[in-house]
Amino acid sequence: IRPRPLVAGNWKMNGLVLGVNEFDAIATGVAAREVGRAEVLICPPFTLISRFAAAAAGQHIKIGAQDCHPKSSGAHTGDVSAEMVKDAGASYVIVGHSERRVCYGESDALVRSKAEAARRAGLVAIICIGETQAEREAGRTIDVVGTQLAGSLPAGATGANTVIAYEPVWAIGTGLTPTVDDVKVVHDFIRSRLVEALEGEGHELRILYGGSVKPSNAAELMAVDNVDGALVGGASLKATDFLGIAAAY
Ligand code: G3H
Repeated sequence: IRPRPLVAGNWKMNGLVLGVNEFDAIATGVAAREVGRAEVLICPPFTLISRFAAAAAGQHIKIGAQDCHPKSSGAHTGDVSAEMVKDAGASYVIVGHSERRVCYGESDALVRSKAEAARRAGLVAIICIGETQAEREAGRTIDVVGTQLAGSLPAGATGANTVIAYEPVWAIGTGLTPTVDDVKVVHDFIRSRLVEALEGEGHELRILYGGSVKPSNAAELMAVDNVDGALVGGASLKATDFLGIAAAY
């Protein structure tokens, strides 16, 4: 039995203009069960979490953050802890997105500590991994993904507290996607590593695909073995596109 799919929208640093309207339209679509059996999540910037969580109260849509600090409090100017994210009304947090790994030099060890912080705070961590174009061209995709997964996955992760998102860096925001065969190879590999590390529980973690997911390719991606949902960037900012993707899962 496959886990319930998760369709997550990562709004990145967007949503100031029209964000609230789009969120309301997405929440309305989810409430109207336009999205099949998928669990639906929106991860807005920190500043919108409380607002969206209040709007989502009593509804099925979930709210998440895009990052958190490993510590629960302290002298960390500009940072936000997992406990604060939880307090604001979120139930998920993305950690180790490639934009953070690249822009802020986040290591696998740091990403793992953030995932551990998420668990400590009662949040589900979505751990992102994926190869760059140069790494793919060098034939290193499996090696890179395996190393990132091994370094970022906390011991004792479960399907209830951890999600993996495979996002080839070269597919993010480019309109390019791997072939479904390439997606299958990587997702099957991630599943096998999860089962090696976590035994039977490794079957329970959802493995999302991310990178240029849109309504027109969502169904073929979802049909791939071990694709248990999507992490959607650009297309999650438009309610009709995001609901169209979620409906495919
Ligand atoms: O977290 C989401 C990803 O970076 C995918 O972004 O759907 O705009 O390619 P994209």
